[in-house]
Amino acid sequence: MSLIKINQELCIKCGLCAEVCACGVVAMGEAGPEERYAAGCMECGHCVAICPKAAIDNNKTPLARQVELSEYPVLSPEKAAQFLRSRRSIRKYKQEKVSKEKMLELLDIARFAPTGTNSQGLSYIVVDKPEILKGITNVTIDWFEKQVSAGVEWAQSYAGLVKRYKRTGEDIILRDAPGVIVAIAHKSLPIGHDNARFSLEYVELYATTLGLGTCWAGFAELCGGANYQPLRNLLKVSDDMAIVGMMMVGYPRITYRRLVDRNPLQVTWL
Ligand SMILES: Cc1cc2nc3c(=O)[nH]c(=O)nc-3n(C[C@H](O)[C@H](O)[C@H](O)COP(=O)(O)O)c2cc1C
Repeated sequence: MSLIKINQELCIKCGLCAEVCACGVVAMGEAGPEERYAAGCMECGHCVAICPKAAIDNNKTPLARQVELSEYPVLSPEKAAQFLRSRRSIRKYKQEKVSKEKMLELLDIARFAPTGTNSQGLSYIVVDKPEILKGITNVTIDWFEKQVSAGVEWAQSYAGLVKRYKRTGEDIILRDAPGVIVAIAHKSLPIGHDNARFSLEYVELYATTLGLGTCWAGFAELCGGANYQPLRNLLKVSDDMAIVGMMMVGYPRITYRRLVDRNPLQVTWL
């Protein structure tokens, strides 16, 4: 069975499907669009999504699963800038669990983030059991302590972090968040970590619209990225999978009143 199907009655041969195909799968022939290199299809869905007449279908990314857009949703530049600038890393949470339904609503947006060659390949572990959350903090601190003791150069600046945790018990790893999202990808997917960055950033931005707050759990992520077995065991990550991203999530206990400033933009024109 061929990958691409053209409805000849509907096709106006505008060539847009071929123009947007990044992989040379669809090209314009004498009689209209043709399939040239099916094996190269990265299932991005562009050929189907661009067609003004719904005349092309693709087995790997069916028309029936796409959503019709009557008008392109465009926020005003002011609203969009305010939305993006008002996202904050949240480190103070209410001790209220995020329901499974809400968590699924939040996580579902992650599927639509860009991924290298549309590889996707991420799945998620949601942790909301207090004893496992505490365990993540403890094993991450253990791992940092081991790096410090082993004389690992970059780790020396974190010696204070370990000491602070030992002295105060303050959760500087997960900030007492009632939930953590862990992104995992198959170890054979070299771009898994990058994919997780974008996908979880979609989650971070979307979270604000659901009344949720998030913060990257970078310390725990480092520990996961180093394949620290106690963390992998705690999260029941199978041997073939890698931990590629971690993010705290919960209901914020605070509201920021102002948009912060950052370093001035630096641009070079060539
Ligand atoms: C990759 C990455 C890892 C991070 N890890 C942590 C972390 O482990 N703990 C934490 O409290 N904040 C963490 N942050 C949040 C940053 O500190 C925060 O983004 C930065 O201070 C700017 O604040 P804002 O996010 O509110 O704009 C991380 C952010 C990124 C992008």
